[in-house]
Amino acid sequence: MIKPDGVQRNLIGKIISRLEDKGLKLVAIKFLRLTKEQAAEHYREHAGKEFYERLISLITSAPVVAMVWEGKNAVFIVRKLMGATDPAQADAGSIRGLYGMSMGRNIIHGADSVDSARREISIYFRPEELVSYEKTLETWIY
Ligand code: TYD
Ligand code: MG
Repeated sequence: MIKPDGVQRNLIGKIISRLEDKGLKLVAIKFLRLTKEQAAEHYREHAGKEFYERLISLITSAPVVAMVWEGKNAVFIVRKLMGATDPAQADAGSIRGLYGMSMGRNIIHGADSVDSARREISIYFRPEELVSYEKTLETWIY
């Protein structure tokens, strides 16, 4: 998910390009503003933490881009491309390392496991909104 700060900073195209260039395949995409309910479900593991209220108000403050990307080891690879949670600690070449300045505005979200990916996808997409298709390039990626 490209967070509100990523959208406001005009980073949608750059972020999508990075994931595409790596070899991941886009199978669903939606531009939306999260409701409080969606945000609470999305970040339910963090409920009660010191930063929780700030996190919810930030993620619901403006539109986001929700996406589903497919590929071998996609969860791990996306996390790698995103960089560490704190942009100050993130590898300089990663999305957060390149574009972020503070933990609260770290540009992008990515699921941390296949289970959370499934759960998060179901918040934003109906099963039929995920499009399965072949890309000829794939034989040159794997
Ligand atoms: P977390 O799931 O730990 O990080 P990630 O986004 O890398 O999976 O935390 C969710 C978001 O909460 C994180 O992207 C930014 C925010 N956050 C803070 O504002 N302060 C904090 O101390 C932490 C750990 C996270
Ligand atoms: Mg997380």
